[in-house]
Amino acid sequence: MADNRKKLVEVKDLSVTFGSRRHPFKAVDGVSFHIYEGETFGLVGESGSGKTTIGRAIIRIHPTSGGQVLFDGKQINGRISKALDREVTQRIQMIFQDPMSSLNERAKVDYIVSEGLYAPGHHLTQEARQEKVSKALADVGLLPEFASRFPHEFSGGQRQRIGIARALIMEPDFIIADEPISALDVSIRAQVLNLMSDLQKKRNLTYLFIAHDLSVVRFICDRIAVIHKGKIVELAESEELFAHPLHPYTQALLSAIPMPDPKAERNKTLLVYDPGCHGYSETNRPAWRDVVPGHFVLASEEEFARYQKNY
Ligand SMILES: Nc1ncnc2c1ncn2[C@@H]1O[C@H](COP(=O)(O)OP(=O)(O)OP(=O)(O)O)[C@@H](O)[C@H]1O
Ligand SMILES: [Mg+2]
Repeated sequence: MADNRKKLVEVKDLSVTFGSRRHPFKAVDGVSFHIYEGETFGLVGESGSGKTTIGRAIIRIHPTSGGQVLFDGKQINGRISKALDREVTQRIQMIFQDPMSSLNERAKVDYIVSEGLYAPGHHLTQEARQEKVSKALADVGLLPEFASRFPHEFSGGQRQRIGIARALIMEPDFIIADEPISALDVSIRAQVLNLMSDLQKKRNLTYLFIAHDLSVVRFICDRIAVIHKGKIVELAESEELFAHPLHPYTQALLSAIPMPDPKAERNKTLLVYDPGCHGYSETNRPAWRDVVPGHFVLASEEEFARYQKNY
């Protein structure tokens, strides 16, 4: 079957290095994936695995040290024209984990939500700007009069809605959501997810959804990439990944998901991933291989043969 879906975002062999020249540290190490227009792509891995760094490299906050990021067919990492920079600044938005610290406490909601509209290239009258703020607040289920209040007057869920309004007002095509519900009470997580999913349908938004836990992404992501220490180790459609997890790190993440049955939960074995278990060496190197179309795993030849046999 021909796949004619449009790739809105393409990340090719991306590396991001921190530290000094003498002591470089590769936080992202040769990562490749693409995101189709209109899909929700999940990026999952433990703390420090490089998820936020990838998001920030796509949105041009972190310089890249290798590879390419393409958005709508155009390279957007490294040096780009002012016009393209402006385009990217408008079309790609990010929402953050902690609505408490990501909002400027001393600014009113009105300013927080419309800050992006003050950037060069936007020539709006005060009325037009306020009109957009009211509309963005309404779109996330908040009242227009909230515009004159300060962030501390809101609950966590409302603050995350303000963060979403701030992204929406720019009319983006692509939103990077960096653990958008991790800091929220369990009872309001679903509300924020439902809001994001409604907005996606109405506006044909494309999401990169970052999480450290597979259970969160299972139902909202079309495809999921599992990342460990700066490298993607497995990538597949969500259902496929849950049905046939191949990489031991993916299996360990899956075993950490709580089970609804308390008895099963008490008796289950938590898998611990040991990166040394692969026995990789110069002659036994891992490569990116697909076990069925669209399901990729990082494995040596020997491991891959075993994965195929047990599939
Ligand atoms: N600005 C920076 N300078 C130096 N090192 C950094 C910087 N940002 C991130 N790192 C390092 O890069 C690695 C990846 O960090 P990153 O924040 O991308 O991880 P993460 O997967 O988002 O983790 P978390 O789940 O905790 O948010 C970590 O080891 C981190 O310490
Ligand atoms: Mg992070």
